[in-house]
Amino acid sequence: MQKPKISIIGLGYVGLCTAVAFSSRGFSIVAVDVDKKKVDMINNGKAYFYEPQIDDFLKKSLKDNLLYCTLNQIQKAVLNSEITFIAVGTPSKKNGSIDLKYIKQVTKQIAKALKNKKTYHLIVVKSTVTPQTTNTIIKNILEKYSNKRCGVDFGLCMNPEFLRQGSAIKDTMNPDRIILGADDQKSANMLENLYKQFYRKNTPPIIKTTTPTAELCKYASNSFLATKISYINTIANICQKIPNTNIGIVAKAMGFDNRISPKFLRAGIGYGGSCFPKDIKALIIHSKKLNYKSQLLESVDKININQPLKAIELLQTQIKDLKQKQIAILGLSFKPNTDDMREAPSIIIINDLLEKGAKITVYDPKATTNAKKIFVDKIQYAKSPIECIKNKDACIIVTEWSEIKKLKTQDFKKNMKTPIIIDGRRILDFQEFKKETTYITIGQS
Ligand code: UGA
Repeated sequence: MQKPKISIIGLGYVGLCTAVAFSSRGFSIVAVDVDKKKVDMINNGKAYFYEPQIDDFLKKSLKDNLLYCTLNQIQKAVLNSEITFIAVGTPSKKNGSIDLKYIKQVTKQIAKALKNKKTYHLIVVKSTVTPQTTNTIIKNILEKYSNKRCGVDFGLCMNPEFLRQGSAIKDTMNPDRIILGADDQKSANMLENLYKQFYRKNTPPIIKTTTPTAELCKYASNSFLATKISYINTIANICQKIPNTNIGIVAKAMGFDNRISPKFLRAGIGYGGSCFPKDIKALIIHSKKLNYKSQLLESVDKININQPLKAIELLQTQIKDLKQKQIAILGLSFKPNTDDMREAPSIIIINDLLEKGAKITVYDPKATTNAKKIFVDKIQYAKSPIECIKNKDACIIVTEWSEIKKLKTQDFKKNMKTPIIIDGRRILDFQEFKKETTYITIGQS
């Protein structure tokens, strides 16, 4: 079977990973973005963010002549392909609802190209959008500006993405499932065939459903994972108040029950990133519009907003007045293996410490450049974990990078003024650190 030509609109994590994944298996891809800097970097074999494996995949795709990125040329890309993936961002508005302006703009361009197209074309929405966006707003724009009928002259699918930053390529190549939302059979079959061609005998379970169900699958999955985290953090906060308890053991015990599973039960200073906080808020607002107040989701969000401040509460059990105190922050990104600082708990922690008059030095193996855009010269930036903790009154571990996990008691004892360690990710050995340092971790006493 011949491989269809694919166009991808939007070169964020989702768009770029989709592009390099398909081209790594012989599909010809034309990708489009509005940011010249990003497009130039990608065409030179370098992603504009840090993500394991991505640059190798990208270089191979370019070398094989299977990937080409263009600036703003949406119509040309649609005319030169049979399937178009929309992967532009759907950021939050001030009130928490999603902003559809980018997706509306690109959909209009796609529709204008469809008007001039003689053959059937499939449009696949990969961006995260709230239920009924695809079968109302997107479909209406496509029909209006193309003067063609959805389900007859062109196809439309909603196909949410579940990749995680830090393991984006691995997740794209081995997804747990594919959710394929379509409101007509021809669209569904065309996308199913594409994935079968791509994954062959490793095709994961494909769940075929309607477009609003597919949209909700994405929100429901992210909200559930966020709920697990806020849940375990709640239990951790309770543990904190009961002597001789250990949230690590509680989570392990729970995880053996395969109805619960051990995943996403790591207690700490809460979730961050560009997805969970945004998606939870969007679902809360969307439900409200539908006249349903989700108390559960509101609590998950509230718990997470307060959780980073637990680290400071624990620090203040040791140093009540933080004015002029020298505090080291180990890790800045919202999770390891990414340089992404969006909604990172480190931001809440650092801002609160600054407000309390502390002097801050930070270290992160990848996120320093992004952190400088946020904090500029309000804080100091160290080049290594040791430089970061040198002569400090206390330190807070914020991100579980492997080089931070490797630090020994001696590193803290030898270098810090006082070895007070607040472990916001529970990564150091409790017994050993408790003996040798002032070690406090969330959910264990
Ligand atoms: C998340 C989902 O896991 C992906 O499936 C989804 O595709 C993506 O959002 C998205 O919507 O685009 P991501 O934000 O990259 O992926 O990262 P996660 O690994 O899910 O971690 C999110 C946050 O939760 C991190 O800050 C992490 O430190 C925190 N977390 C995770 C915990 O605090 N405890 C845990 O047990 C697990």
